[in-house]
Amino acid sequence: MPLVTTTEMFKKAYEGGYAVGAFNVNNMEIVQGITEACQELKSPVVLQVSKGARAYANHTYLVKMVEAAIINCPDIPIALHLDHGPDFETCKACIDGGFSSVMIDGSSLPLEENIKLAKQVVDYAHAHGVVVEAELGTLAGVEDDVSVSAEDSSYTRPEDVQEFVEKTGCDSLAIAIGTSHGAYKFKPGTKPQLRFDILEEVEKRLPGFPIVLHGSSSVPQDFVQKINAHGGKMPDAIGIPEEMLREAAKMAVCKINIDSDIRLAITASIREYFDAHPDHFDPRQYLKPARQAVKDMVAHKIKNVLGSDGKA
Ligand code: G3H
Ligand code: 13P
Ligand code: ZN
Repeated sequence: MPLVTTTEMFKKAYEGGYAVGAFNVNNMEIVQGITEACQELKSPVVLQVSKGARAYANHTYLVKMVEAAIINCPDIPIALHLDHGPDFETCKACIDGGFSSVMIDGSSLPLEENIKLAKQVVDYAHAHGVVVEAELGTLAGVEDDVSVSAEDSSYTRPEDVQEFVEKTGCDSLAIAIGTSHGAYKFKPGTKPQLRFDILEEVEKRLPGFPIVLHGSSSVPQDFVQKINAHGGKMPDAIGIPEEMLREAAKMAVCKINIDSDIRLAITASIREYFDAHPDHFDPRQYLKPARQAVKDMVAHKIKNVLGSDGKA
């Protein structure tokens, strides 16, 4: 199956009450771990690339690795998406350079400027058969070296969403309901909470329209414990409870973004490996179990959180 846009996968996800996982890719082992799990479970998937990933791995390497995954996973729809596109030029480079979907992240701009920028990207993307995700509301956390404190983050205002979608023509909308980027999403000792009331209100105002949740890693505590037991220092790393994500997936949320859990799976595996084998130095020896850890984590998400197994 060639690279696809997210249009069909989101339509099926909305109607079927599940969500498609959008996993960030930065190297070959990550691409392989994610797509092998999706192929085995017959799950659609979004592979997403940030500005930082393009700077690290190079645009062409990433596109070609995704093309290789498509050849190796013939039974599943795969979309290639730009995560947090910072400006029109980056979106254009990805549209011209083989992506099927881009995000324009104007969430830190005043509403009118966010609309103007998103519309500019939508016009160019749609003329080239590419779909666009835009964002309203700001998430706390760290992305591409930009850090947003919890105080400066703001929930999406449901009263803005109709105007935004109508004026921009975007294909999906990321909203802020209390998720955040990174591995420290809630203060220790506090109860993790998401604003499901905002999600419900957005859903009412945009019936049938696909909603995206960023910052949706669960920060599995077995990874955190393994990291800390083998020389790491990640006290108080806390994520979004899986049952909350499952709930969101049954609602209008069609795309759930996961990056930190991939990082944790790899780091836990490699730390454990080196503790057990301090004399090893062949990267294949420690990257093989790390790739397997990504695959196992993604398979767990598909079956227990996203509900996208068998939906390819
Ligand atoms: O939302 C941010 C993603 O986790 C990507 O992170 O910008 O460090 O590649 P990155
Ligand atoms: P996490 O940091 O929770 O994995 O979020 C990733 C994300 O939103 C990528 O856009
Ligand atoms: Zn994000």
